[in-house]
Amino acid sequence: MSILSTKHLLGIKDITTADIQLIFKTTDNFKQVINRPIKKVPSLRDVTIANIFFENSTRTKISFELAEKRLSADVVNFSSSGSSVKKGETLIDTVNNILAMKVDMVVMRHPAPGAHQFLARHIDANIVNAGDGTHEHPTQALLDAYSLQEKLGDLTDKKIAIVGDILHSRVALSNIYCLQKLGAKVRVCGPPTLLPKHIDGLGVEVSHNLQETLEWCDAANMLRIQLERQEDKYFPSLREYSLQYGVTLPMIKSLKKEIVLMHPGPINRGVEITSEVADSDQSIILNQVENGVAIRMAVLYLMASKNKDAE
Ligand code: CP
Repeated sequence: MSILSTKHLLGIKDITTADIQLIFKTTDNFKQVINRPIKKVPSLRDVTIANIFFENSTRTKISFELAEKRLSADVVNFSSSGSSVKKGETLIDTVNNILAMKVDMVVMRHPAPGAHQFLARHIDANIVNAGDGTHEHPTQALLDAYSLQEKLGDLTDKKIAIVGDILHSRVALSNIYCLQKLGAKVRVCGPPTLLPKHIDGLGVEVSHNLQETLEWCDAANMLRIQLERQEDKYFPSLREYSLQYGVTLPMIKSLKKEIVLMHPGPINRGVEITSEVADSDQSIILNQVENGVAIRMAVLYLMASKNKDAE
């Protein structure tokens, strides 16, 4: 039996290409399961998973919970709002108290980059990063790459553009690592103010020209403008941003080839893409969401298998 090289999923940077391929192969099986009339398997019976969210989420939280329930795990959900975190309890105390109730795995979203690495040094349970600030969002990158592979086939030498607010995006960094490990060529495109200073060290192409980037790529992953993380003003107005970096239907119809359009959600309709693009045949946004459940089932199942292997 193949097993993951890692006990936790903290980031795509830390996993191997073989891990990604194993997750994708396992996802193929779980995708069949969730499309059957009976969508449940007993694989994680007697495994208890805590979903701990210190930041808002719709897709990731529901997707993990569904994945866990489809695998027959026992699930507890914790959200920092309304909890004792508001009374000053630390991250380690919060998590240790939850673990004292015999929890085997922790799925956590936290606004602090590196919070999961810190936690992994202090607790025994498996940790899955469901997003840490502006750092990584590994399961999003896995579901993005899996969805792209379904559409484009082998990603070797495929040209993938990541457009928009790269500076504040954990999706961008995890996507860059994941796509490069799968052999794709990655380009980031956005205003200079929304590209991080370390971008040159990531081995990606950089462009500030959306039209030219759309002509270059096989797929474009349109990122949300993360106003909630922007303390400074990075562009004059959303309207101006949209005019420079928003994708419209006439733009994609004018291209010589058909490209794939993606978005991790939540979408600011009319800012990074118009509704017509989001809902077009070229958009795979809802395929990404569907695949998210199977990807997360695969990750949790493979982690539990590694635990059993270590016993
Ligand atoms: N893509 C994503 O992480 O969405 P949520 O913030 O709704 O989980």
